[in-house]
Amino acid sequence: MMTTLKFRNNDEMPILGLGTFRSEPNEVYNSVLSAIKIGYRHIDCAAAYGNEKEVGNAIAEAIKQGLITREDLWVTSKLWNASHGEENVIPALNQTLEDLQLDYLDLYLIHWPVVLKKGTEMPEKASDFIPLSEVPLTNTWKGMEAALEQGLTKHIGVSNFNENQLKEIIASAVHKPEMNQVEMHPFLQQKELKALCSHFDMHLTAYAPLGSLVDENAALRLLENDTIINIAYLRNMSPAQVALAYTMQRGIAVIPKSINEKRLLQNLETINYTLTEEDTALLKDLDKGHRFIDGKFWEVDNGPYTADSIWNA
Ligand code: A2P
Repeated sequence: MMTTLKFRNNDEMPILGLGTFRSEPNEVYNSVLSAIKIGYRHIDCAAAYGNEKEVGNAIAEAIKQGLITREDLWVTSKLWNASHGEENVIPALNQTLEDLQLDYLDLYLIHWPVVLKKGTEMPEKASDFIPLSEVPLTNTWKGMEAALEQGLTKHIGVSNFNENQLKEIIASAVHKPEMNQVEMHPFLQQKELKALCSHFDMHLTAYAPLGSLVDENAALRLLENDTIINIAYLRNMSPAQVALAYTMQRGIAVIPKSINEKRLLQNLETINYTLTEEDTALLKDLDKGHRFIDGKFWEVDNGPYTADSIWNA
């Protein structure tokens, strides 16, 4: 199985990284340090996760212990919605760099195609939002390009962008986005978006690559799916490994989160397995276009965004 994704300048991102969303500050330090110890070389962060200081402490400790050098590690972070707008990008990135104790990122992404007023963490009312007509994505992209040109990040990209939003920024970009990070797993295979990203020579990273483990509806629990369980049994893999391997074999990076050492190792070891064509044909049929992260949290009464406008507009 391929182990890295190659960027336009030949930089290589490990195809499997560690996610840090919903890792509590007290848990994330151990998660990141353990992950680096067992061989993870790609950490996915975001200002919005509220834990970049702890992630930074763990990276600093790993470097201090001589486990890695800065250059060995691929670090991604994301611009929060309240920092859209050309002039706000570099200050936000500088804060992230300070928190992570780094002098550059490998990849910086616009977290959502949604703009919030400065200082807003999660919006509650329409006045917490700014419509895209006032702060266009192309304007924020200019700030991303400036960050790239100043060497604060080696690559720039986006997250949760739909096809039209990608086309909009690509049309006026000097430096085109190199990554779109979106939810992806066997129940949400994003075939059209994947085709468009290949066309624009962009990579994809799958967030929530293990799906939701605790959905009330049993049919939506990815790791309890019969097809996945059967393949896992046949190939001597775990269901999580089957889900991760399938997405990676499509040429897509995965960033499973775990705070448990056994599962961290199990996820990393997925790169040693290859699913057969028969397996991948069965997994392909599991696509049901189902989002666990449905974007409804951006919908408020009389607000400028709806989940439908985010995914489909
Ligand atoms: P934990 O941190 O206790 O390991 P996703 O990355 O798709 O959002 O999924 C993350 C969830 O999946 C977390 O709840 C994590 O729990 C769990 N998880 C991570 N790796 C595995 C695995 N190999 N098998 C089962 N559950 C896993």
